[in-house]
Amino acid sequence: MCGIVGYVGSATPSTRPLDVALEGLGRLEYRGYDSAGVALVAPGVDTVHSAKKAGKLVNLRNELEASPLPHATASIGHTRWATHGAPSDVNAHPHLALGGKLAVIHNGIIENFFSLRHELLDMGVEFVSETDTEVAAHLIAQQYEITGDLTAAMRAVAQRLEGTFTLLAVHADAPDTVVGARHDSPLVVGLGDGENFLGSDVAAFIAHTREALELGQDQIATITPNAVVVTDFDGQVVQPKHFTVDWDASAAEKGGFWSFMAKEIADQPQAVADTLLGRTNESGDLILDDARIDESVLRSIDKIIVVACGTAAYAGHVAKYAIEHWCRIPVEIELAHEFRYRDPIVSARTLVVAMSQSGETMDTLMAVRHAQEQGAKVISIVNTHGSTIPRESDAVIYTHAGPEVAVASTKAFVSQITAAYLLGLYFAQLRGNMFRDEIHTVLEELRAMPQKIQEVLDRGERVREIARWMVDTSSVLFLGRHVGYPIALEGALKLKEIAYIHAEGFAAGELKHGPIALIEPGQPVFVIVPSPRGRNSLHSKVISNIQEIRARGARTLVIAEDGDEAVTPFADEVFWVPQCPTLLSPLLTIVPLQIFAAELARAKGLDVDQPRNLAKSVTVE
Ligand code: AGP
Repeated sequence: MCGIVGYVGSATPSTRPLDVALEGLGRLEYRGYDSAGVALVAPGVDTVHSAKKAGKLVNLRNELEASPLPHATASIGHTRWATHGAPSDVNAHPHLALGGKLAVIHNGIIENFFSLRHELLDMGVEFVSETDTEVAAHLIAQQYEITGDLTAAMRAVAQRLEGTFTLLAVHADAPDTVVGARHDSPLVVGLGDGENFLGSDVAAFIAHTREALELGQDQIATITPNAVVVTDFDGQVVQPKHFTVDWDASAAEKGGFWSFMAKEIADQPQAVADTLLGRTNESGDLILDDARIDESVLRSIDKIIVVACGTAAYAGHVAKYAIEHWCRIPVEIELAHEFRYRDPIVSARTLVVAMSQSGETMDTLMAVRHAQEQGAKVISIVNTHGSTIPRESDAVIYTHAGPEVAVASTKAFVSQITAAYLLGLYFAQLRGNMFRDEIHTVLEELRAMPQKIQEVLDRGERVREIARWMVDTSSVLFLGRHVGYPIALEGALKLKEIAYIHAEGFAAGELKHGPIALIEPGQPVFVIVPSPRGRNSLHSKVISNIQEIRARGARTLVIAEDGDEAVTPFADEVFWVPQCPTLLSPLLTIVPLQIFAAELARAKGLDVDQPRNLAKSVTVE
């Protein structure tokens, strides 16, 4: 959703503030947006200079080329994902007030904007846009008139706003200052040498610095070229947590691939390997990151609830099979947006596991808070350092997938599954459900997975050929059983979100309870076949399912383990994956489905990295 950049530096006015803002907005494009804008301030200039355009960033760049803005010392930049008012030039951010002396950008939704807008209208304030942000701009303007201080003005307004917001403001009279406030919406500080940055995530400034500060809930950062002061909404100075970003700008670039999604699919062996790194202490025992939770509490839990959305929820679904098998603790999967609305049974002996690539998904964050209010402890599995969900959790396992730019999640998914395996093994160790050597055997099997994922990638050309051949397909079904079931759901989601094709995933056993009615001659159906070396009854039941749909004319596209010749008589096409333990197989079986979706979308000429209507980071409920 909205992307935010703030910069202050150049002692003398230059093009750097604008360059940093545009570069940062380019890196935030992946969040999804429909318009973009910038505002600049410089000493001795009476008003803010700004430009904004609906559509892609290129429209703003063209506008700036046609009508260049003067040199500056500070900047703010914004990519907007429309909530209040259509995606138009006028509704794009920044929004100006005080006759153009103040500029404000905003991410989130101001829920009490309607009453605030009426209050301002009654005072004679004129609005030019339909946005909730313009309300904030006029309120900050009024407070600035009273206090003459941008931070104080921001604080006064932050206390009045309801909903979610990250707000950044600049004022023409303070050309060495950018002020940012956050409430339930992301904002991080980047630390430079004689310059400082603000961003909705570190991608906004990663080309300039890897040193960063996490801002807590309800905090305000005031950045000047040589200082960063963080205060809470009551004005008390707080010490933010410093962190160093463990990836650099090149990790967030396409690196020769035709799309970020293609690169991120190819990055998966590394992402899994990195997620497995450094997980044991000197005695070889598994450890958690940032554990603020007593081991005795974890030993006493009698139920786990995984809360997550979309792809992360499917990773949670895979986790259920592994954690229940290894630890004998019941695991429920709950879509985070449903969790707090159904009066869930949660106690001090419930552990909630929140899974999120971004660490900012509002639905998941709200589920975390609800769980904590009910007395549960929360462990999060998150990819983005400095984000809100890990900061509010009682313990964290960071996935080390690196930046995921494409809206369709791929490497974050396999990293989430890997981290969930580590969590399951950690519990098994803590609660004594498995012997040490059994845990070490599984860890060894896990360490072999990156190489096996690479083998699946190396076999990808046949999947791509089939995808190109199926470019006109209007519907694809996916069947799986056991850990193959969430993979069927994820395969269908990938196809829906980037290729805009009707796709459904089913548990194969459910077929005869309804979905088999959809099968007609030529209907393509992917089937994920469990290993014949596992529970044989499961394997043979899926083979029967393939026969049932084949008999009704389905075109069967089968994902099966090397050497499983039982599938070949019933498969129109087989995509082979290396042998591995059944519980770990999702790390392999998802890969052909990701490649298939990406290639089919590419063959249709679609933008796979920024699919329509979707945002990478869903920061509103
Ligand atoms: C995945 O391809 C999606 N775009 C989406 O379902 C995503 O996984 C979901 O919104 C959760 O995001 P998170 O992991 O950042 O919380």
